[in-house]
Amino acid sequence: MKILAIESSCDETAAAVVEDGRTVLSSVIASQVEEHRLYGGVVPEIASRRHAEAIVPVVSQALEQAHVTLDGIDALAVTYAPGLIGALLVGVNFAKGLSLSTGLPLVPVHHLRSHIASNYISNQELKPPFLCLVVSGGHSHIVMVEDYTTMKIIGRTRDDAAGEAFDKAARTMGMPYPGGIALDKVAEDGNPHAFTLPRPVVHDAPYDFSFSGLKTAVINLLHNAAQKGEELNKADVCASFRYAVVNCLTTNFIKAAEDLGVQKLVIAGGVSANALLRRTLADACQQRDWQFYMPEKSLCGDNAAMVGAQGYYEFLSGRRAGADLNAYATMSIEENEPLF
Ligand code: KG4
Ligand code: ZN
Repeated sequence: MKILAIESSCDETAAAVVEDGRTVLSSVIASQVEEHRLYGGVVPEIASRRHAEAIVPVVSQALEQAHVTLDGIDALAVTYAPGLIGALLVGVNFAKGLSLSTGLPLVPVHHLRSHIASNYISNQELKPPFLCLVVSGGHSHIVMVEDYTTMKIIGRTRDDAAGEAFDKAARTMGMPYPGGIALDKVAEDGNPHAFTLPRPVVHDAPYDFSFSGLKTAVINLLHNAAQKGEELNKADVCASFRYAVVNCLTTNFIKAAEDLGVQKLVIAGGVSANALLRRTLADACQQRDWQFYMPEKSLCGDNAAMVGAQGYYEFLSGRRAGADLNAYATMSIEENEPLF
């Protein structure tokens, strides 16, 4: 079964053709990052306009590269939540128009569920149940994936997402948006023990995260040094910050797995590209004789191939969108229903 998938939740316009949820026949991504970089972050109004310009050529290219026409497509899948509302609406409305004109069934897909599904492409043998750490620019969750479409949140961030914390720390050090990637690279040459940074814990919820205190601590460290005219070693600051974030993420994730008795761990989302996070969890799982899966780096960021993968399993579960499908800025990964 071939699914044409569309993604426009943030600053990437993407389309892909995916067969049976696991085989990517094409994947096209038009990134707007260069333009948003000028402003130090995504400007929602600009994102929507660029999606409107890019959506037709991106979908056409995805069909062309997969060597199929719409006649060879069996269903459409589209990201409908969560994300920037104006950005999501471009993909949702385009997909609804396509569904109306072709008669193809339309499957609405949750963005974070798609990130998890990137693992089904990179790891063909992977099947639920498993415990997943979903870490992106907007979310940090520990999710029990009971089956392909049944999820339970075990832990969540109380404030900033991990990616957001990485980006804000990187920005303070003058790195271009999105700084998480650059910070990760610079950190490879630094000493993770050069600076002691806090490890915030949430007392009444042992699996929850809190990154805003850690982010403030590194910003204060940099500002205090600047005021005194001191030059801190940038690689050491990056390495110490990265170590602290990864330590918080992995400590809670491993503890949740131990407490739940789950021995199959998976990571997903933009931050799952982080080199230290990948190494740390691979080692921890190897030591415990647990299974560990991660998406290939090219599938960690936003793309439509992962939407096609999750869309396939949502389709099999009977999920369909009507002509009244809307987009939602906020939506729980558990319910897959609008919060408001
Ligand atoms: O999942 P994603 O592409 O978009 C959202 O759904 O939010 O995640 C983007 C986030 C950004 O904050 C970016 O800085 C972060 O993922 N990121 C990284 C790395 N690569 C991307 N953070 C740390 N280390 C990386 N290697
Ligand atoms: Zn994402």
